[in-house]
Amino acid sequence: MVGLEGRAVTITALGTALPDREVTNDELSRSLDTTDEWIRQRTGIGARRVAAPGVSASDLGILAARQAVDRARLPPEDIGLVITASISPDQLFPPTASRIAYEIGAVRAGACDLSAGCSGFVYALALASGMVGAGIHEHVVIVGAEVISSILDWRDRSTAVLFGDGAGAAVVAPATEGGGRILGFDLGSDGAGGPLLSVPAGGSRMPATHDTVDARQHYLKMNGREVYRFATRIIGDSATRVLEQCGRRIDEIDLFVPHQANMRIIEHAAGRLGIPRERVCTNLERYGNTSCASVPLCLDEASASGRLHEGDLVLLMGFGAGLTWGACLMEWGAAGPL
Ligand code: UT7
Repeated sequence: MVGLEGRAVTITALGTALPDREVTNDELSRSLDTTDEWIRQRTGIGARRVAAPGVSASDLGILAARQAVDRARLPPEDIGLVITASISPDQLFPPTASRIAYEIGAVRAGACDLSAGCSGFVYALALASGMVGAGIHEHVVIVGAEVISSILDWRDRSTAVLFGDGAGAAVVAPATEGGGRILGFDLGSDGAGGPLLSVPAGGSRMPATHDTVDARQHYLKMNGREVYRFATRIIGDSATRVLEQCGRRIDEIDLFVPHQANMRIIEHAAGRLGIPRERVCTNLERYGNTSCASVPLCLDEASASGRLHEGDLVLLMGFGAGLTWGACLMEWGAAGPL
């Protein structure tokens, strides 16, 4: 559990980027043993965006970060730190964030990557909030950026149909009067579930060899059923904890923004918590599971469509590989993130 001390912190602007190319379920069913009906019924996904060959996570992250910084009217040289969360970073190292910082002109910023599975954006928000709250930095740019299509096994129908590419970014800064604020976090991890969702090879545990390539060990592997069970349990538990910690009630939540893994997971969790469907934000019908980008993509759409108002209570929720989870409760500002 993470409590917020120090000065109040908020998100002052959001930015997003999506590849142009949309791949529908029907298109996938031409190369995989699957159907539009199966994918829609089991996941709620209708289509996803797929980056063009050669486009990396940082390419999308740069676009999203630049938009967020422009919207915040923030001179890039005033950015203190860029944190990128991704399950499909450009490389093992250097950090994807270093290239993003360089390309957006954040010449005085530190840069680092964060690996927390699909919970990455909420973790990045927690770290940024702590840093800004403690006065270490005035402005931290956090970026969830994914080109998951590059780590998918396109022969594996149980994973290939689920994910999509995209990026979302936020500027985290001290809160101003009426500008909303972050109220608290609940972060957690259960390493026993590590093997349930991973890219097995390519790191120090299973270095790349011809055999690992032949055995397709450099692609994303998932035990969908077990991760599903974990997700439906942890969303309710973590949401309840962060609400308790902040002294708020579930019926006060105006918008629930869960990680977009599966519509059935979202509906089950929202039902268990008692959050009405109209207060739940989803975009996986159009974008699939965009991992670290799913929460900021949803939040930006909600903000742009006028769904959020001053003082609204917003619950963000991430969960995924690790296994990890992260919930964040925040109050929306007058203008909201632009
Ligand atoms: O973002 C990180 C977090 N990730 C998640 O939270 C994902 C959690 N898991 C899930 O969302 C679901 O478990 C899946 C969508 C991945 C799978 O749904 P499911 O209802 O759990 O299906 P299943 O794995 O139990 O498979 C049911 C059947 C199997 O066939 P048999 O063994 O019953 O004959 C699969 O082979 O569906 C088959 N199947 C497919 N059929 C058509 C699996 N994938 C497909 C497919 N098209 N794409």
